[in-house]
Parts: sequence; structure tokens; C-alpha cells
Amino acid sequence: MLQQVVVVDMAALVDARVWLAEARRRGLGIIAITEPDAASVGEAVTLGADLCLTKPIATEALAEAVARVSEKLVATHDAARYRSRAQEVLELGHFDQVVGTHPQMQQLLSQVAHVAPTRATVLIHGESGTGKELIAAAIHQNSKRSSGPFVRLNCAALAETVLESELFGHEKGAFTGAATQRDGRFAQADGGTLFLDEASEIPPGVQVKLLRFLQERAFERVGGNHTLRVDVRVVAATNRDLKQLVDEGRFRADLYYRLNVVRLNVPTLRARPSDILTLAQHFLNRFAKENERRVTGFSDAAKKLLTEYPWPGNVRELENAIEQAVVLTRQETIDVDALPLEPATPSQGLTLMIPGTTLAEIERYATLQTLQAVNGSVTRAAAILDISRRTLQYRLKEWGVSDRLAGYSAPSSEQQG
Ligand SMILES: Nc1ncnc2c1ncn2[C@@H]1O[C@H](COP(=O)(O)OP(=O)(O)OP(=O)(O)O)[C@@H](O)[C@H]1O
Ligand SMILES: [Mg+2]
Repeated sequence: MLQQVVVVDMAALVDARVWLAEARRRGLGIIAITEPDAASVGEAVTLGADLCLTKPIATEALAEAVARVSEKLVATHDAARYRSRAQEVLELGHFDQVVGTHPQMQQLLSQVAHVAPTRATVLIHGESGTGKELIAAAIHQNSKRSSGPFVRLNCAALAETVLESELFGHEKGAFTGAATQRDGRFAQADGGTLFLDEASEIPPGVQVKLLRFLQERAFERVGGNHTLRVDVRVVAATNRDLKQLVDEGRFRADLYYRLNVVRLNVPTLRARPSDILTLAQHFLNRFAKENERRVTGFSDAAKKLLTEYPWPGNVRELENAIEQAVVLTRQETIDVDALPLEPATPSQGLTLMIPGTTLAEIERYATLQTLQAVNGSVTRAAAILDISRRTLQYRLKEWGVSDRLAGYSAPSSEQQG
């Protein structure tokens, strides 16, 4: 039987994760061509490459790699291995919805993969719109309870008594209007995961009951005294600093420690600028399909704007912007005027809160500001920043902004090397 092997240049793939998952789903053998550093190779292997070749590539090495991967495919073609491979693909497929190859995102996903199979309570921390709910869903889908329910509740949306009855259920006659006995979200989530969004907003009375559940796995319905036990894993999310709320006496310390068994931090979009265009293209593909529009990409100016914009509303804001752009544009390529954003310089709209900003963000901000002030001259910017040109170019590449330097009308001699 003919075994199909594909050779992919990782640097040329916009959405390597999705692409490789699809190739694996189809049972193709994958040879990845990567940069010759451990991180690039590690990433390709994590994403499911059967074999990695680092640049530069010799023809014989490539031929040999193809032969080896085909042999491996033949060997894995018996039924038992096929089943386990299908399972692997399934697990990999569960991350498909989470787009992002920035090291911070990769680190987060590897933490998710690590904690998902356990029963540990997880607290997800991150600014609004960063993807906390998506991460919570990924935890559920990659856990042993993935065939069970994933139940969500936004704790900020409900008044105290309503929230309590939503969570724990109520007995008939527990309060006016409680005409029948009703199960709450805990009972609904039995065998699965309960996602508590905006956990910082849980009022004190409900905090006590939640703490008891986390300690004893037991609770009573509102108005009842019959103790119920369910098998539920709790994942909570917040965009506020819970520890600070504890220090201010507004959140119970004991509950905080019970929720914070495993803590995951979802990075802001501006902290992982190299993901911006990948996400933008991902949303473009999705909305073009949904709206049956023939829109395929972004103009260089639009890419520049997307990369420089500080995205205070994070991925959700990007998602909304791309949806609008896809619907509004009359061209195949989205240009600046279709993007519902103010043309921003790196400084506009970005408030550097100190404390509150990472050194990496400050570095990026200072670098881009300087570069812009000298019309994109890498030599002059490097001199002002007192770093080597190489270092500056390396950083720009890391941030995914090297291409748009052209837009700064830098002298051509500066654009090479
Ligand atoms: N890494 C990602 N890849 C693909 N889509 C993403 C990613 N992160 C977020 N999204 C999308 O962005 C939107 C916002 O994500 P989500 O609702 O998970 O954020 P959130 O942190 O829970 O926001 P909030 O704090 O406002 O509740 C969703 O539509 C989600 O699918
Ligand atoms: Mg949310």
C-alpha cells in the first residue's frame, strides 16, 4: 500500500498547528523542515511531525527521511496502533480551536495538557477577551471526563440568591416561585467540568458553600437538608487579581487557596504579537466561509495596522474587527479602511501601566517607538537603543514585525541581512 508523506516548511506555514493536525487526521506522514534551533524542532515534534530536518537541507537527507517515514507508516498500519493513533489525533484535535504559536501560548498549552487529565481545580487568570473560556473548554476536552458535560456559569451576571440556587439547585418551596424541585449546575455537571466565569464576583454567602464543595465534594440544595455528592471538576476564571481581593478582605482566603491549586495565566494579545496575524487569518478564513465571501487575506498596510494596534480587548476585539472587515470589504484583500480600528502608532491607545506591564512589553514598546521616530532605520534605532543591529533585527523577527519595516521607507541597504 502506498504511504503518503508530506514535507512542510514550518516557517512558511501560517497556521502550523491546524495544518499539521489535519495532515495527521488524514493519516499522512509528516516531515517538518525547521530552523536549526531546539525550540523550532521541539515545536514541530509537539505539533505531530514524524521527523524533523533542519535547514539547510541536503537532497540525500530528504530522500532518506521520506523513506524512513514511509517505513514507519507501514509499520504503524496494524489495527491496534491505528486505534491509538486515532486517539492521539483526537487529543491533538482538541487544541485545534486554540490558535497561537507564540512561546507564551505554547507554554500555556503544554501546562493545559499536563493538568487536564488530573482532577485538580484550576484557576485561569487573564485580561478580558484573552481566551479564558476557550482554555477552560480545552482542559475539559483533554481530560478523562471529556465525554461528560461541560457546564458554564457566569458568576457576575446573577444576584446572590439566584446564583446560589443556580449552582446548587433548590427544593420545592425553598423560596417564592420555587414551585418544583430543581437541580443546579453542580448536579448538571456530574461526571464533567463546571466552569465558573468571573469567579471574583461570587458573593460571600455563596463563597462558603463553594468552599465546602471543594473540601468535601458535598452540598445541599437551597432549602434542603439532604446532602448530595457529585463528581465535578471545578475550573474558575477571573480577570481580576484575586489575591488582591483577598488582601482587601473581599474574597475568602481559604476559597482562594482551594481554587488556586493550579493557576494558569493567559497572556494578553499584545504580549504575543507574533500570534496576531495568525489569529487574524484564522478568523478571516472562518468568517469568509460563514458569510460566503471571497476574501483571502490582508494588504500589507492592514497587516501593519493589525500588528501595531495594542488590542485592549484582546482576541475578542480582534475577532470582532475581522468579522466586520470581512463583511464590509468589497475586495478580496482586506485593507486598512475596512478595519474598524483607528490607525494607531505603537503608542496610541497603549497605556503602559507600571506596575502592570511586563518588561517584554516595555521593551517592544520602546523599540518600536524608537524605530518609528527614525523612519525605520535599523542602524539608527540600534544606536539609540544601544544594542547591536543583529539583536534589533532578531527582536523584530521575533515580534513578527520585520516585514512591515518596508512601510517605514527605510533605506534599502538596511533591509538586507
Ligand atoms: N487562542 C485563540 N484561538 C482562537 N480563538 C480564540 C483564542 N483566544 C480567544 N479566542 C476567541 O476569542 C473570543 C474570546 O475568548 P473567550 O471568551 O475565551 O475569552 P475570555 O477570556 O473568557 O473573555 P472574558 O474575560 O471577556 O470572558 C472567543 O470567541 C474565542 O473563541
Ligand atoms: Mg469568559
